Amino acid sequence: MNGQGVNGSHSNGRYAQITGWGSYVPEKILTNEALAHVVDTTDEWITSRTGIKQRHVAGNERETTAVLAARAGREALLVAGLPPSRLDLIMGATATPEYMFPSTASLVQDALGARAAGAFDLSAGCSGFLYGLNMGMAAVRSGMADHILVIGAETLSRIVDWSDRNTCVLFGDGAGAVVVSVCTDRCGVLATELGSDGSGGQLLILPAGGSHQPASLESVSSGGHFVKMNGREVFRFATTVLPKATEAVVRKAGWQLADVALVIPHQANTRIIESAAKRLNLPMDKFFINLERYGNTSAASIPIALTEAVAEGKVRPGDKLVLVGFGAGLTWAAAAVEWGVPPARTTRTFLDRLLAQLGFFFAGIRSWILRSERHAYNWAMGPVGKDDWRGHLRQRLDVWRSKVRRRFTRRD
Ligand code: ACO
Repeated sequence: MNGQGVNGSHSNGRYAQITGWGSYVPEKILTNEALAHVVDTTDEWITSRTGIKQRHVAGNERETTAVLAARAGREALLVAGLPPSRLDLIMGATATPEYMFPSTASLVQDALGARAAGAFDLSAGCSGFLYGLNMGMAAVRSGMADHILVIGAETLSRIVDWSDRNTCVLFGDGAGAVVVSVCTDRCGVLATELGSDGSGGQLLILPAGGSHQPASLESVSSGGHFVKMNGREVFRFATTVLPKATEAVVRKAGWQLADVALVIPHQANTRIIESAAKRLNLPMDKFFINLERYGNTSAASIPIALTEAVAEGKVRPGDKLVLVGFGAGLTWAAAAVEWGVPPARTTRTFLDRLLAQLGFFFAGIRSWILRSERHAYNWAMGPVGKDDWRGHLRQRLDVWRSKVRRRFTRRD
């Protein structure tokens, strides 16, 4: 394995703790039985080969990746008790971004009103969230940032071919997020393991829409904008890397496998998780599984599972957790996390929620003001460099505008 790791030995007394978590899935549920009316499949086949019983899918055009991501991000901030204005960075891991650009993370930054945060997306398939967690840990521990929001969000229902039974039965939509914050106790994300084998890139691919095959009539008619997957090869890869990445990250954290309280794996297939458990010689009750209700939500699967595991009381302060995933690239990633948040932190009062909702409401107004002001200004002042009274007025206004905008986009 050519994994790149970030070891936990040089901390400067700074550690990266997960202080907030949250998830959001669309309301609409698609059961295996309903899918059997769409493609030639059965509930029995899907359940026995994958473990999946149903998945959530975006029910209308307003449910997009950025919308799901922002809702999960809000939950995570609420649990952390952190105002969005204190975020330094937002990372969005997704294979189904809102657009090629701008990044989904930038849209989330605007929706949350995180005016001091940088924002970008990263692409590492289903491993994306753990790649983000790794970068979040490195940024916090190095002193580059104090608070980071890492989001995994997907609307895979928009890129699966609903006539291809090999893929459409596997995937679901949803988002999960965590807040990573600086702390001085040795806990939180202690070690990570990343890896990639790009020679397997063709095994799981969205062939068209990039520079290799830009969108065209032909790319659309040949189904190039849908997921293509060699399921058997990906299965073989997954059953090899999951246990190897788990062992590697446990070693880096200085733990023994027996110390691990819970493994939260990427939720792709129960058989893949069973195979990993067998190779690691760990009982199945050490693995958290919720894929029967969500299917494979790609980059969102691990933060959604983590959020549920905490809600179900399966994660307690001091627990040693391994989060581990694999995906398109091919990529794999794992994180060793020592849970450091007391259970009391997870309960928020009605007032907390109300204040947070008000904050998000004002974030919407702020975004509207910024957009309207930009629109009105460009309409009234005409093109840049115009040599008439409007051009001169524009120059004067630009100085004033940059001062006002700085107030809106900077931390207090
Ligand atoms: N319903 C009924 N029959 C089906 C279906 C279906 N939905 N899908 C495939 N079949 C058929 C196949 O056509 C094949 O028939 P054949 O033998 O006549 O050709 C038969 O079932 C067996 O197919 P296999 O591919 O051998 O089935 P397998 O047991 O390997 O399971 C599966 C397929 C579930 C896709 C499995 O290979 C798998 O889980 N692979 C990993 C996929 C994965 O995790 N992908 C996500 C990666 S993460 C990311 O980045 C998104």
